[in-house]
Amino acid sequence: MASASTTSFPPEAVPQAPEDPLFGLMRACKADTSPDKVDLGIGAYRDDNAKPWVLPVVKKADEILRNDPDLNHEYLPIAGLASFTRKAAELLLGTSAPTISEKRVASVQTISGTGAVHLGALFLARFYKIHGANRTVYLSNPTWANHNQIFTNVGLPIATYPYFHKETRGLDIEGMKRALADAPEHSIILLHACAHNPTGVDPTTDQWREIASVMAAKKHFPFFDCAYQGFASGDLDRDAGAIRFFVEQGFELLIAQSFAKNFGLYGERAGCFHFVAAPSPETAGTTTRVASQLAILQRSEISNPPIYGARIASTVLNDKALFAEWQENLRTMSGRIIAMRQALKAKFDELGTPGTWNHITDQIGMFSFTGLSEAQVVKLRDESHVYMTKNGRISMAGLNTRNVDYFARAVDKVVRET
Ligand SMILES: Cc1ncc(COP(=O)(O)O)c(C=O)c1O
Repeated sequence: MASASTTSFPPEAVPQAPEDPLFGLMRACKADTSPDKVDLGIGAYRDDNAKPWVLPVVKKADEILRNDPDLNHEYLPIAGLASFTRKAAELLLGTSAPTISEKRVASVQTISGTGAVHLGALFLARFYKIHGANRTVYLSNPTWANHNQIFTNVGLPIATYPYFHKETRGLDIEGMKRALADAPEHSIILLHACAHNPTGVDPTTDQWREIASVMAAKKHFPFFDCAYQGFASGDLDRDAGAIRFFVEQGFELLIAQSFAKNFGLYGERAGCFHFVAAPSPETAGTTTRVASQLAILQRSEISNPPIYGARIASTVLNDKALFAEWQENLRTMSGRIIAMRQALKAKFDELGTPGTWNHITDQIGMFSFTGLSEAQVVKLRDESHVYMTKNGRISMAGLNTRNVDYFARAVDKVVRET
């Protein structure tokens, strides 16, 4: 019987999905022709001229690759470019980390950080089973919006733990610890390694200790998302401090690693997923078994990871001089962002903007959670051509010496009027 419908995907089966709010915001900003426009939406670094910045060290690596007569476009192995994944693990765990010499790490190159979170989620959905029914993934409230979708898409239940303290605009450490202590044993806890997105609020070293201690007591399973190493403080080791501390404490854990921000390789999708085994006599066997299953998952998802971004990163990570230059480039990016934080805070102080604004300089990394309400965000967009997500998050990289005064005045006005 011929059906009246010509599609197997009518609206009842495939309803229109809402546009991704961040990409909708980008589109609206692009369409705004005002010369005053300030784009604080997307989390991508901009230089002081509000332009994307190709890292000088990336240009050099690109030149080296283009002049290599032996370069070809063959497939990478399923687990990716070994010279890249090995250095990527060292970058996170430390060059002389026992985890590496004891072969406790299984690394797989992924489609940037998103692909790494997804591969980890898929791995957990398939294999995190021995503790019975509890496979809930606890996400910080708030978190990078995609975390919700990625874990839900693989069928893992999600829950949240308190993170942002509205009054102090800092970490709700007591709320976080309470939630972790109340969560059933062996829960999966997603942690941002540094430069928390969207709040810019990171635990201090002492607070990480407290978090690790609660998690160890409840035998929780840590999954670190590390999208901003070196980009937060400008110091690669410091930004990996939380991960290294958890590893030292003997946790078995997962890490999703992105090279989008710290290399400015956003569209090249260079990233890595790492499984780190706890020290034990069975370690070698565990790592080998996990690696074998990761390879199977990867094969059915993407078969082989993309080569170009990994080659660029590998060229830099494996060359002493280029590595030092990269560290300098990282300091340029993180330094400019820190300078913008200071300039913005100074401007609010000068204007006497109502409220406290210490959080602007206390927070770290690409983002700041301003504390502005949705109504204020909308007013800023409509009246001053300032674009930010409706939760009041701003990308600090969108501020520069030309627009920081304008932005501060626009915020000052909206705060006084609402
Ligand atoms: C917390 C967090 N995780 C992961 C990512 C993934 O980024 P990408 O897939 O571009 O590496 C981002 C990017 O904004 C992020 O902020």
